[in-house]
This record gives sequence, structure tokens and C-alpha cells, in this order.
Amino acid sequence: MIRLITERLILRQYAESDLPEYFKLSSDKQNLYFLDDIITETIEEAGESLRDAITVNEKGTARRFCITIKGDDKLIGAVGYEIAKITPLGKIAEPMGWFIMPEHQNKGYITEAAKAVLDFAFSKDNCVRVATGCYKDNIPTQRVMDKVGFKKEAEKPKSKYHDGIMKDRLEYALNKDEWILMAARKTSNSSDGVKYKGRAQCLVVRDGKILMVKHTHENDEWYCSPGGGIEDGETPAQAALRELREECNVSGVIIKKTSEYVDPYDDENFFYSFHIDIGNQTPTLGYDPEVSPETPILTGVGWMALSDLSEVERVFLWASGLLSIAQIATELESWSREISYPNKRAD
Ligand SMILES: CC(C)(COP(=O)(O)OP(=O)(O)OC[C@H]1O[C@@H](n2cnc3c(N)ncnc32)[C@H](O)[C@@H]1OP(=O)(O)O)[C@@H](O)C(=O)NCCC(=O)NCCS
Repeated sequence: MIRLITERLILRQYAESDLPEYFKLSSDKQNLYFLDDIITETIEEAGESLRDAITVNEKGTARRFCITIKGDDKLIGAVGYEIAKITPLGKIAEPMGWFIMPEHQNKGYITEAAKAVLDFAFSKDNCVRVATGCYKDNIPTQRVMDKVGFKKEAEKPKSKYHDGIMKDRLEYALNKDEWILMAARKTSNSSDGVKYKGRAQCLVVRDGKILMVKHTHENDEWYCSPGGGIEDGETPAQAALRELREECNVSGVIIKKTSEYVDPYDDENFFYSFHIDIGNQTPTLGYDPEVSPETPILTGVGWMALSDLSEVERVFLWASGLLSIAQIATELESWSREISYPNKRAD
């Protein structure tokens, strides 16, 4: 059962017990002026429409959430999207839609709910694009689109019949890479005031391979996940994303923290790791600002399979919580229990 929790709201799946509120919402002709195709005239019609919402959610052909205010489970509005197409790159969600009872409007609820649903769409539901649209005279919806970050892609003059006339339609969309950039900018702006000491790093996995940075120093070479020291005033998450930008030239969004452990040699120092989404950006070798560009330590960046890495490098990855990433956990299930302890010592 999917539930999304925001600062003031809980978005949950529909239930048959929502019928009284659902009927109130779906039969309000004045409020649903722009959504005349979903208006229900009778409680029976509303019941059918509600059951349809429950069924499409169960089938996974749509993600329709009811909006409730924390502490009161009653439905006050709805937000969601249909899954229009499943491509090899991910889902295309279209259209996204929303409506809320008049007494709850202009409090920012739909903006708050829509952001949480987009977050879910891109980070959990494997969507690569969410598209929507509205009539040009639907000003509150355009305002919500702007506030959540949708981009206007087209304006189609007099393209749809509504209320006796041909009206202009606006088309909006948000692609996953744009959302990643927006979310990365947001994360980089908000420090939490706590002083962190240690290292933060990124676990980025694509097609079962892990994004690794090659280090070369004094005839030695080794691979690490992108990461580095946490700077003053940074949170571990901000440090991880900054290091990812510096070392691999890509922006990322945190999916989850995968591990936090104390430095075995210094109790005040911690190692923080995060599972990070970079969409379909291509990482390229960046730099380490603390090292002279003439003698770089970072000498390569690439996607490595677990079998391409040494036992030592894998140990660090396990400690970073690599096992909490499903693709890797699945691979591990196929491993035998053969002992693979390295028999060669470091020089
Ligand atoms: C569109 C709708 C979902 C917005 O929900 P909401 O919770 O009120 O949205 P928010 O409070 O997050 O934002 C609404 C914004 O529109 C602005 N707005 C509302 N009426 C406005 C008007 N007449 N002129 C200019 N701005 C207006 C609000 O001021 C607010 O912007 P702000 O934060 O800059 O002040 C709600 O109005 C609704 O349910 N309408 C009926 C159903 C509908 O039309 N759905 C969309 C179909 S495409």
C-alpha cells in the first residue's frame, strides 16, 4: 500500500469508505468547471468512479492518491497520474491531474501533494517523463505547474471544445533529468546547522554496474565510489552530491542513505553513503580541487561490475551499504558460498 507523507499531508490509496467525501468532491460542478468529464451526478455514479480509481491503482495502470490532512483521514482532494506508456527507459506518465475541495484551496496543498507525487514518480516508480495540460483560463492550475517546476512545452490555440467555445490548451511536462537537476539544487541550498565530520560518498548503480572513480598515486591504483571529505557547513548528502559533480560531472538526487559508520581509527569521524540517481546522464572524469591538475590522482571514471573489483574495494562497497540496492542484492543471491579470501598480502 503506497503512502506518501509530506509536511502537512498524507497521500494514500483510495478506499470504498471514501465514498461520501469522494461524492462531495466529484459532484461539485462549480469546482470541477474545468474537469466536466469526471463530474458524477449521483452517489451510484460516484461509487463506480471510486471503484475504478481503486482498480486502476491495484492494476498499476495509474497512480491515484487521495489527499488527507495529517491527523484526519478524510479525503479532501486527489492527485495522480495515468501510466500512458512503458518504454525500455521507464514509464511515461500522462496526464497528471489534481483537484481539491474549495474550502481547502489556496493553502498550497496541491503544490505540496504534487511535489510528493513527482518525487515518487521519478525516484520510486521509474517514470522518465510526467506530462499534463490545462485550459489557458485555468489560472490556479498554471500557478501550481509553475510552483512544482513543470515546463510549458506548447500552447495550442482554440484546440479543445469547452463550455460552448473552442479554447486554448497549454501543455506542460517534466522530464526525469530536469527533476534531478531541480532536486539537486534544492538539496544544495539547505544546510541543517549540524557540524559533520568525515567522508560522504555516492553509490550509483546502472545495469548491475557501479559508478567508480579510478585513483592513481605513486605506482598504485585503486577504485573508489565518488566521494570525499565533508566541508564546513555541509550536510553529508550535500557533500556526496558536490563530490559527484566534481569527480564525475553529473548531478544526482538522493534515493536513500545506505550506511553510516564510525571511522575505526577516529570516533569523531563518520563515513556516510547514499544511493543516488543520476538519470541517464553520462559521467565523465572531473577533478579533485585539492590536488594539482598537473599530477592528478583521479585518472578515470567508469561503470564496474563487482567482478571487476578487488576484494578490498568490494569490502568498502559492502560497508557503504551496497547490499541495500536491489540489483546488487539480486546478484548476490546467485553467488556460491565458495571461500574467496585473498591469499596475497599488500606490499
Ligand atoms: C487547481 C487546484 C487543484 C489548485 O489547488 P490548490 O491547493 O488551491 O493549489 P495551491 O494552493 O498549491 O496553489 C494555487 C495557486 O493559484 C493561485 N490562484 C488561485 N486562484 C487564482 C486566481 N483567480 N488568479 C490568480 N492566481 C490564483 C493561488 O494564489 C496559488 O498561488 P500562490 O501560491 O502563488 O499564491 C484547485 O484550484 C482546484 O481543485 N480547482 C478545481 C479543479 C481543477 O481545475 N483541477 C485542474 C484541472 S486541469
